[in-house]
Amino acid sequence: MACTDSDYAYLREVVMTQSANMIDPSRNSLFDSKLTPLARMAGASNLEDFVHLLRSDRPAHLHRAVAEAMTINETSFFRDVKPFDLLRETILPRLIEARRHQRSLRIWSAVSSTGQEAYSLAMMLAEHLPEIALWDVRVIGTDISRQVVEYARRGRYRRLEVNRGLPARMLLKHMTREGEEWEMSPRIRAMCEFECANLCGLLPKLPVFDLVLLRNVLLYFSQEDRSVVFRDVHQHMAPDGYLLLGNAEQAEESTNLFEVEFSANSYFYRPVF
Ligand SMILES: C[S@@+](CC[C@H](N)C(=O)[O-])C[C@H]1O[C@@H](n2cnc3c(N)ncnc32)[C@H](O)[C@@H]1O
Repeated sequence: MACTDSDYAYLREVVMTQSANMIDPSRNSLFDSKLTPLARMAGASNLEDFVHLLRSDRPAHLHRAVAEAMTINETSFFRDVKPFDLLRETILPRLIEARRHQRSLRIWSAVSSTGQEAYSLAMMLAEHLPEIALWDVRVIGTDISRQVVEYARRGRYRRLEVNRGLPARMLLKHMTREGEEWEMSPRIRAMCEFECANLCGLLPKLPVFDLVLLRNVLLYFSQEDRSVVFRDVHQHMAPDGYLLLGNAEQAEESTNLFEVEFSANSYFYRPVF
């Protein structure tokens, strides 16, 4: 038997409550493709029975698993060229200059998915901060999905993944081949750490960040949840820090805690205090 509209509405509500992700009713088929394996693992014979189980027992771990399974984890190394040009040419030189006495940098890849964004930042820093060994650099990646956090922690990528966005020169310099996979070098891995965190829940203890990348997630949140996320991100930022959003994302309509700044056809945000 197929799910009813009411079943899909219930699944949308579970996802919204758990992760603040809004799923449009036109995308109901995503529930079928993404939740059927989870339903089987939970002992249900089909998605409809699984919804019944979710409704009747309200098992917290399964509600959370539903939200995690419904996340869109699309990412790649140096995803979108422009923001990384902006980082290389404008933001990192400014930050390096501003922190040259403390020799410390804290960077947050706030929805890190499988880790490529965090590792791209670490590789970029290794290339553009010659005395990096004398600096204390931490790139912290967080994501709601335990599965992608585990994947990021492994620091190993398939050929298809390294072929997306990672220049061959950087691949050979910062990764080594291990059978069918490529492994990040210990030097790059030592800069990066990954943790589970729900941006729309209680955040774990995090340091004050000099740079935050919050890319390609706001589009799934309501205006109200975006405002809350901006408020929390603002609280975790240094007064002279930098915030980068995804190409199609803006802060202006959701918050007045950040000010936009333009540079070479790109934009980024500075916190207002
Ligand atoms: C499209 S990926 C973006 C990855 C990377 N920032 C990029 O731009 O390539 C979106 C990520 O947001 C995560 N996500 C969705 N809702 C979240 C929430 N409420 N808290 C934390 N992470 C969330 C998903 O698990 C997914 O890995």
